[in-house]
Amino acid sequence: MDGRGRDRGRCSSPFKHPIPPNSPAAVGGGGGSGSNSSSDYKKKQNSSPPSDSGETKLNIFDICPPKQDGIVVLNPPLFAKNRERRNEMKQRGERGQVLREGMVLLKGYIPLIDQVKIVKRCRDLGMGSGGFYQPGYGDGTKLHLKMMCLGKNWDPETNQYSLQRPFDGAKPPHIPPDFHRLIQEAIRDSHALIQQHSKTKTNPQLILPSISPDICIVNFYSQDGQLGLHQDKDESEQSLQQGLPVVSFSIGDSADFLYGDDRDMDKAKKVVLESGDVLIFGGKSRKIFHGVTAVHPTTAPNLLLKQTNLRPGRLNLTFRQY
Ligand code: SIN
Ligand code: MN
Repeated sequence: MDGRGRDRGRCSSPFKHPIPPNSPAAVGGGGGSGSNSSSDYKKKQNSSPPSDSGETKLNIFDICPPKQDGIVVLNPPLFAKNRERRNEMKQRGERGQVLREGMVLLKGYIPLIDQVKIVKRCRDLGMGSGGFYQPGYGDGTKLHLKMMCLGKNWDPETNQYSLQRPFDGAKPPHIPPDFHRLIQEAIRDSHALIQQHSKTKTNPQLILPSISPDICIVNFYSQDGQLGLHQDKDESEQSLQQGLPVVSFSIGDSADFLYGDDRDMDKAKKVVLESGDVLIFGGKSRKIFHGVTAVHPTTAPNLLLKQTNLRPGRLNLTFRQY
């Protein structure tokens, strides 16, 4: 990424407030994880069970905290699942929008069954080494979300990628192979959409290049989570020059996503990203300013919540190629 760290820090972003450590009210990411010094982190790792908020003293953040009420959720029968999947597949590709050159929104693209898998995978990875934490800056300010990196670590303080997290030395987990399949399908369907929309016979690969992502930044926004307008621009010169896209998956509650050519909220356009949407921006749109201004409570699909126990909020995965 990203330019959302330092750049955001420099401007007087409405999203960057000093947040006292362990202040759940102030923490957009869904509970205050406080400071994550490495000794603190390790000390707490072996001890405490999840609290009511789903967070252990270790600062492990559980996006799917166990149910407290003892209700058993039955999985829907296979037939119903398959029917749902067939319907979803039929719609796939039919609900795409070209938002601007190089920017495509595939509405309801990720089948529910895959959304469930992604949430469960992120939950497992998020609770292990290199898992979710609340990023912040040396001056004590925190981002209003929880974050985990896959493939490479992105440091909001330095805006740089590395193989290990500076604060605890953890190596980011690998990107699960299933995620790659979905990305390739989304790029392929975006190319078909671009071709349909284009009056000329331009090669869609020139408008929106393909990628082999080696980085994924997973953000979890609780219901007051936000992310200020920023550009994703910390990938390699070559990647940025070629306009290799950012591919973004949204799961859980819907959110207002702003985008535009400047860091100006008033000039930015808004689109609502819902659970299962895939947004891709590359080519001429690779360096758009973008951010999340609001998460809409109780908009996540019921079945997703039943099957994953995903906490209120929104999970977002952005894939990039360094
Ligand atoms: C990001 O820009 O890193 C995340 C965007 C989103 O949450 O949709
Ligand atoms: Mn971004």
